[in-house]
Amino acid sequence: MSVTIKSAREIELMREAGRLLAEVHEELAKFVKPGISTKDIDKYGEKLIRDRGCIPNFLNYNGYPASICVSVNDEVVHGIPNKHRILQDGDIVSLDAGLIYKGYHSDAARTHAVGTISKEAQQLIDVTRQSFFEGIKYAKAGNRLHDISNAIAAYAESFGYGVVRDLVGHGIGTALHEDPQIPNFKQLRRGIKLVPGMTLAIEPMINEGTWEVCWLDDDWTVVSEDGSLSAHYENTVLITDGEPEILTLLK
Ligand code: MF3
Ligand code: CO
Repeated sequence: MSVTIKSAREIELMREAGRLLAEVHEELAKFVKPGISTKDIDKYGEKLIRDRGCIPNFLNYNGYPASICVSVNDEVVHGIPNKHRILQDGDIVSLDAGLIYKGYHSDAARTHAVGTISKEAQQLIDVTRQSFFEGIKYAKAGNRLHDISNAIAAYAESFGYGVVRDLVGHGIGTALHEDPQIPNFKQLRRGIKLVPGMTLAIEPMINEGTWEVCWLDDDWTVVSEDGSLSAHYENTVLITDGEPEILTLLK
C-alpha cells in the first residue's frame, strides 16, 4: 500500500475524528484512580466512543477483544482489560484508544499516574510525552519521515531510556494502519519526504530500562523484557504547509 494524501474533505473528517478522540481521552484521564479495574476503563471508554456516534476501531481488530488497550507498569502496549486487574496507588497506566468517525480513523495514547507515583515514574511519563513533541518539530513538509524518528530517539535516549523497536507508528486514514511505518528509534536513512495532507499516528513507546520487549501468553500484551516501567504517548498528526496539526489534542 502507498502513503495516502488526504483531500480537504477528508482532512475535515480526520479533524473531527481526532477531536472526538481527544474528548474521550480527557474523560478517561479523569476516570483513572486506584481501585478501578482495567475492564472498567474499557467499558467506560467504549461508552464514551459510542455516545459520540463513533465506532471503537480496536475492538476485534485482528481479534483484539476490547475497545481500549490498558497497559499497566511494565506492560508496554496492547494490555487486555480484565475485571480482576485493579489499579493500585503508585501504578502507571497507558491508555491507547481509537475510533472511527464517518469512515475515518483516529488513534491516540496517554500514560497516566494512578494516585501518587515515584519521581522516576513521573519522569518516564514526562520524557515519553516530550519525545513526541521533539519528534514533531520535524513534522513539516519537505523534511523526511525519519527526521521525526531520530529526534524522538535522541531525546529519550539522552535520559538513558530504551526506545521500543518492535512496534512503530503508522499512517492512518480510512484504515487504522496505513503506510508508512514510523519507527521511534534511530534510522540510518532519512526516509520518505513529508507532504501536506499526510496523516500520521506518531507513538513513542519508551522503557525505563532495556528497549527489548516480549509478548505474554495472551499473544497481545507486550511487556518490557527486564520488567522495567514503560510509557506510551501517541497523537494523530496532520502534515501541512506549515506547523503540523495535532488532531487528537483539544485546541
Ligand atoms: N494504537 C495501537 C496501534 O496503533 C493500537 C491498535 S492495536 C489493537 O497499533 F489491536 F488493539 F487494535
Ligand atoms: Co497507533
